[in-house]
Amino acid sequence: MTQTTAGVNHVAIIMDGNGRWAQNRGRPRLVGHHAGARRVKEIVRACPDLGVKYLTIFAFSTENWKRTQTEVAGLMRLFKRYIRREAQSLFAENARVRFIGDRVRLEPALVDLMDGLELLTAENTGTNLTIALNYGGRDEVARAARRLAHDVEMGKLAPRKITDQTFPRYLDTHVLPDPDLVIRTSGEARISNFLLWQSAYAEYQFIDTLWPDFTAEIFAQVLDRYSLRDRRFGAVPA
Ligand code: IPE
Ligand code: IPE
Ligand code: MG
Repeated sequence: MTQTTAGVNHVAIIMDGNGRWAQNRGRPRLVGHHAGARRVKEIVRACPDLGVKYLTIFAFSTENWKRTQTEVAGLMRLFKRYIRREAQSLFAENARVRFIGDRVRLEPALVDLMDGLELLTAENTGTNLTIALNYGGRDEVARAARRLAHDVEMGKLAPRKITDQTFPRYLDTHVLPDPDLVIRTSGEARISNFLLWQSAYAEYQFIDTLWPDFTAEIFAQVLDRYSLRDRRFGAVPA
């Protein structure tokens, strides 16, 4: 069976190119991250009109700790500031915010803000905004396997019950549908460890625009192009 691509339910975005955007202007990389954060707001706001029910954005990967201490610290400050500043408007926009990724390595003050925003928006029924922070696809699968093994050890799960249907219940994304479309900005054509399990049948769009230049208008154009694709899921075209 092939599926029409008329509507896109879940869009995931690898927001890349902040550093180059700043470098092009002779500014420090963090200036690019701040400009990128402003864009997030615009893209989240555009979702209801574009029919996007789930938006998942890659904010910080498990590999991004390899950057300089200055950049990492600046990003952590930016995440805290973003949550503090945007919490009320996200709530007012009826967005439901969730975080995926491993929280263990994040500082407690940031984790408290993340928990607070999830709680504040838990009853909201609009756009499901998921922010991937200290997220890595391999790390997520490994953590899921650890929890699953624990359940087996406790006698809560029989090994024969482990299937491609039951395994994803242990992933951070267990309440989310799989992404229909994964967009990466900045011209790089790679996944960089994002939603490995979940994107098995996602459509990909790699676009040259740097993330701080990614407007709601460009977003709408990317979704239009997606609607022309023929998703076959392994079947023969109808
Ligand atoms: C993406 O922009 C944001 C994060 C990874 C936090 P980059 O910082 O990777 O920007 P480039 O790729 O260096 O231009
Ligand atoms: C991926 O971008 C991670 C985020 C956008 C948060 P990177 O810039 O870290 O990926 P690589 O290093 O180009 O693969
Ligand atoms: Mg990058």
